[in-house]
Amino acid sequence: MIKKICCIGAGYVGGPTMSIIAQKCPEIEITVVDLNQKRIDQWNDADVSNIPIYEPGLSNVVAEARGRNLFFDTDIDKAIDEADMIFISVNTPTKTYGKGKGMAADLKYIELCARQIARVATSDKIVVEKSTLPVRTAQAIKNILDHTGNDVNFEILSNPEFLAEGTAVSDLTNPDRVLIGGQQETEKGKQAVQALVDVYAHWVPKDKILTTNLWSSELSKLTANAFLAQRVSSINAMSELCEITGADVDEVAKAIGMDSRIGPKFLKSSVGFGGSCFQKDILNLVYIAKSYGLNEVADYWEQVIILNDHQKRRFAHNIVKTLYNTVSDKKIAFLGWAFKKDTNDTRESPAIYVAEELLSEQAKISVWDPKVKESQIYTDINALGSIETDEVNNRLKVSSNAYEACKDSHAIAILTEWEEFNGYDWQRIYDNMHKPAFVFDGRGVLNKNKLQEIGFVYYRIGEGGV
Ligand code: NAD
Ligand code: UDX
Repeated sequence: MIKKICCIGAGYVGGPTMSIIAQKCPEIEITVVDLNQKRIDQWNDADVSNIPIYEPGLSNVVAEARGRNLFFDTDIDKAIDEADMIFISVNTPTKTYGKGKGMAADLKYIELCARQIARVATSDKIVVEKSTLPVRTAQAIKNILDHTGNDVNFEILSNPEFLAEGTAVSDLTNPDRVLIGGQQETEKGKQAVQALVDVYAHWVPKDKILTTNLWSSELSKLTANAFLAQRVSSINAMSELCEITGADVDEVAKAIGMDSRIGPKFLKSSVGFGGSCFQKDILNLVYIAKSYGLNEVADYWEQVIILNDHQKRRFAHNIVKTLYNTVSDKKIAFLGWAFKKDTNDTRESPAIYVAEELLSEQAKISVWDPKVKESQIYTDINALGSIETDEVNNRLKVSSNAYEACKDSHAIAILTEWEEFNGYDWQRIYDNMHKPAFVFDGRGVLNKNKLQEIGFVYYRIGEGGV
């Protein structure tokens, strides 16, 4: 029976995942630890609406469990030492240096965690990989733990997380499945798997808790993300063909999605997928395939990324082309900066790359996003390193509401599918814009007929002129 859990990493996965486990398992004491003092302070903020991650419903769950059996702390050694089960939920970004640069997953944070656990642990531990990892990482973790530890027994499990941001609470509360990989051929391995099954069984039906060997579990996570991203790239590839031929990608998506073998989900054409996972995990998959000499497999998956990069660029180029081949000193309003609605996360958001293209054409950009902070938007653009900071400060402004962002603009670009966009007073927005007033809907969310009636020139991704 697990009494104490420690989770290393208080990010987008560690925070919400542990909050739900704490809510559902009041008898288990859970401590989420992180090196980042500021993040921990935010999780502990007396005003629960200030927790560092915006997820619908999350603050209520934190309010219920925090201080009862859910704790956030920076004393990592203590939490490791006291726990029976340790989740590793640290970031595994794409490597930015050395061998595998730009493709392989950087496992340095994982290795640091493993070494810290080995150094600190004085009693047997179950170590759970929650981060997304290359297949066979469990072997490396086991080697480190067994060779540097204090002679305690470590069982390694793989328990990848499938939550999507913006719906984390409902995904965690009602998951399609929970996947647990372990060493089923040893008695201790079996017991470790069962211990984690018992945690989830507090609220997840048993038939949705899937147990596999370690390698299947690790690889299933990369595979799931690759398949999901591939669907988006597939429909986005068709969007370009639709625009040229007069077809409508939403109609095509509906028509194919009604085939039960294809299914209707994840077929919404867009300005491209973003988020911290899809690109990173596919690049990692491509790298793994190449490292085994499987070049055709690698090339196949790499196309998903190539198409996605193309989609972001082509959206920006279409704006330039439509605005009479120049956007120099023209104001373009961005509605949305987050990589999808209902999150404040901007990692790999397509908005960043569309902005980069337009800034390099000397456009002026004003951004409005309901949840993303101004400082984050500047950080995102400056991190690209492709545009001088002075130029960014001169040309990019962050507005405090949509009306201000759109005032005196030549065009509006929809980069995130926030629901509030449809409720705006579009007549008021139109009245304050240069004419012709263009809207480029990169998410296919606005009411075309209404906008056209007002007088907007409206373009939706994937909609061809008839
Ligand atoms: P994140 O960057 O939001 O959080 C990671 C946290 O780990 C950071 O706060 C960082 O300070 C902390 N950290 C790093 N090294 C540490 C160490 N040695 N000791 C203590 N703390 C340390 O990342 P995330 O989005 O939560 O992703 C975590 C993992 O989960 C990644 O492998 C990711 O691929 C995977 N994942 C993410 C999502 C998602 O939607 N974000 C979904 C499924 C899986
Ligand atoms: C994804 C996976 O869905 C999740 O299972 C995994 O654990 C982490 O990675 P996330 O990146 O949070 O989750 O969001 P997701 O809903 O998958 O969207 C990813 C990107 O694809 C977003 O930019 C989204 O706007 C885009 N997308 C998604 C589309 O453009 N069209 C779609 O039909 C679906």
